[in-house]
Amino acid sequence: MLKLIHLTDLHFTPPGIDHLGCQPRRRLEEAIASINAEHGDAAWVVITGDLAALGQRAAYEELKACLGDLSVPYRLCLGNGDHRGRFREVFRDVQCDEAGFAQSVVETSAGRLLLLDTLAQGVHWGELCEDRLAWLAHQIELGGAAPVFLFMHHPPFPIGIKLIDSLSLRNAERLAALLDEKTIGHMFLGHAHRPVAGSWRGIPFTILRSTVSQFALRLDSDRPIRSYEAPQYAVVLIGEGQVVVHFHDYSYEGPTFEYKPVPNVVVDDEMQAADFQEKNAIGR
Ligand SMILES: [Fe+2]
Repeated sequence: MLKLIHLTDLHFTPPGIDHLGCQPRRRLEEAIASINAEHGDAAWVVITGDLAALGQRAAYEELKACLGDLSVPYRLCLGNGDHRGRFREVFRDVQCDEAGFAQSVVETSAGRLLLLDTLAQGVHWGELCEDRLAWLAHQIELGGAAPVFLFMHHPPFPIGIKLIDSLSLRNAERLAALLDEKTIGHMFLGHAHRPVAGSWRGIPFTILRSTVSQFALRLDSDRPIRSYEAPQYAVVLIGEGQVVVHFHDYSYEGPTFEYKPVPNVVVDDEMQAADFQEKNAIGR
């Protein structure tokens, strides 16, 4: 079983600068402490873009310093908040394709992770230009029948939130033409700042909350509404013929308690059920 950690939308800022009421570095530090303590056995951490909020060099320097505490190796995708040039100046050893896009392959025991660069510099929607599509087509061909797992920032389909849908991947049809649901095991996406799961053209996908602020679930609103729902990372377990994604609200500090399974005989007998409830009443 291959274990991966998926993080997205870190929105890093220069030191001491908040982002919409959150401290991006503190949020990531909490995530890293949780990953190191609970999932240090993961093979990779993949972060699907909006590494920076506004593409500032100082934000990437801050991020690089923070990621130095992560005990699991990491790989990075870019989002619309990023600046490819400044990102590459700071993350000098980041793997890129021949055209200079931050696209790369990670070979794993469960298949190939393909990290795509959907950043269209200067706008908030995403795109995959001819160079990037050609790279993807080549990589899919190279991999043969090995399972492929795609990581990228922009969803190539609408999710029902108007602002996000207006800023999705523009040339989704070109991407769809390259993908075969028999080969693509899962798509790991960002951009929406919400937990969303489903399938597109037969390919399953998951999207996560950001480590900072979120978009509220307002499907009918013409105006984008933000919220401070809990930040998340996902723990991904990939085995033969299956992908399992756990959404972890890692900042939760409330109580936990041991669960004692109910004996079957209690469910069969209403008197015993009432007795069991009385003895095991928990006042919450
Ligand atoms: Fe974002």
